Amino acid sequence: MNRGSYLILNNERLADGVFEIVLEAPEIAARAVPGQFVNLYLPGGAMLLPRPLGIADVSPPRTVTLVYAVVGAGTERLSQLPAGRRICAMGPLGNGFLAKIRFTRLLLIGGGMGAAPLRFAARRFREPVHSELYIEAFLGFAAEPWGLASFGAACDHVHVASDTQGAAAFHGTVVDLLEKRGRFCSSPGAGGTLALACGPMPMLKAAAAWCEARGIPLRVSLEARMGCGYGACASCTCETTAAQRKKICTDGPCFDAEEILW
Ligand code: FES
Repeated sequence: MNRGSYLILNNERLADGVFEIVLEAPEIAARAVPGQFVNLYLPGGAMLLPRPLGIADVSPPRTVTLVYAVVGAGTERLSQLPAGRRICAMGPLGNGFLAKIRFTRLLLIGGGMGAAPLRFAARRFREPVHSELYIEAFLGFAAEPWGLASFGAACDHVHVASDTQGAAAFHGTVVDLLEKRGRFCSSPGAGGTLALACGPMPMLKAAAAWCEARGIPLRVSLEARMGCGYGACASCTCETTAAQRKKICTDGPCFDAEEILW
């Protein structure tokens, strides 16, 4: 992992209460894989603990994009930092999605800020070596959707559930949306599909049950409050099928869904 002071290239609003910050961070960009995260430290100690933010995109060799929600004084301050300032960051952290199986179809299931690491996954898996891959995204937003253009550019189909859109939008959970529109997944030919999911725990639990019922392997990225972000404080553990609790920051944040005790 690298820790350094990085130049802010852009910091702008994506949607109501959601911002995107782009850093010139070549050491992080060179090594990051989808599912990993970065710790951001505000100047002047405005946040006591670093903010762990899933990497939303990387443009090698130099830039790293992170998406964050403004939820308190720390992230409010972060949203006001202009391009040209520097910010301390550490990363890449965590294990990433690390797909260990062969697959021809990729199913992305995201809720709220959990869409961020899936955006990086969509882009990375869309790169030329994977050009035959079919990618379908199911995204749920309790508030204004964001990042849909990026998903649209990388995915074959993007489905959105949102409670804030007009009457034409799908209203319900992202798993309701999967049930209604994820038709290819429920066919007998669903073999060759890998699912990746990130979002709130209830959504992940429902997605895990949905995938298990269809025999679709699922990797989940867990969200957690973190102290250090690199295995030193034990503030981020989760229960798994292993004998001991695992640390989300270093053993994860990505796990096989069947490892997690839901
Ligand atoms: Fe400190 Fe995971 S956040 S061990």
